[in-house]
Amino acid sequence: MSDGDPLLRLDGVRAGYGETQVLDGVSLDVNRGETVALIGRNGVGKTTTLRTILGAVTPTAGTVRYDGEDVTGLGPIETVRRGVGLVPEERRVFPGLTVEENLAVGRYGGSETANRRDPEEVLETFENLGRRRRSRGTDLSGGEQQMLAIGRALVAGADLLLLDEPTEGLAPLIVDRVSELIREINEEGITVLLVEQNVAVALSLADRVYILDRGRVVFEGAPAELEANESVMERHLGVTV
Ligand SMILES: Nc1ncnc2c1ncn2[C@@H]1O[C@H](COP(=O)(O)OP(=O)(O)OP(=O)(O)O)[C@@H](O)[C@H]1O
Ligand SMILES: [Mg+2]
Repeated sequence: MSDGDPLLRLDGVRAGYGETQVLDGVSLDVNRGETVALIGRNGVGKTTTLRTILGAVTPTAGTVRYDGEDVTGLGPIETVRRGVGLVPEERRVFPGLTVEENLAVGRYGGSETANRRDPEEVLETFENLGRRRRSRGTDLSGGEQQMLAIGRALVAGADLLLLDEPTEGLAPLIVDRVSELIREINEEGITVLLVEQNVAVALSLADRVYILDRGRVVFEGAPAELEANESVMERHLGVTV
């Protein structure tokens, strides 16, 4: 495929849980090397969108294309193998395992093709984790858990990293550190699709932004366009920046 094609393309994706339809025809593109933010109020379908990309939720209509291939309906094992990584909303750090052991878990499964980071390299780059390598998941702060969850995804290997509310519940100083980390990861060549409730963080990191409202994309544009559009911010996010 040519480099001009998006790395990820959702086209008219409908999906939900049993009888409940959540996504009502979602179309979006993520180009190679971009950071794209997906924002919107609670319950509009942001997590469901990420789960659908990963293949944990199967679309009832529409297509998901990744790296030039139709991956609609493939399960998570297949998409992860192709280089899609998800850091879920709940972080899912193993509480009984140490930092080192949590990172080692990332070595199993994972991607066959993506650049995989060595656990030692993660411990060196994420200094806090290096200092806490023998601490158990339960003893880590929220920020450290988030960094560990991201680190584990890098060890598993990702060309496209899906991040679900990585700054949720973190103190402002830690929000800045996690933001900086996401920026570095992107600069190193990993494409990022970021779901955020923190609109300021999303706008500061993203090349482009999509707003989701009740299962539909209602805005697409550059952060500056969104910032200039108070009525969209107010109507679909209930905030003004
Ligand atoms: N496993 C599930 N079974 C049934 N309904 C679900 C399930 N998970 C989510 N939903 C419903 O689907 C809708 C969209 O949820 P989703 O988690 O995608 O929203 P979200 O935009 O990520 O919200 P939040 O900002 O709260 O994380 C909500 O109404 C939610 O209650
Ligand atoms: Mg969510």
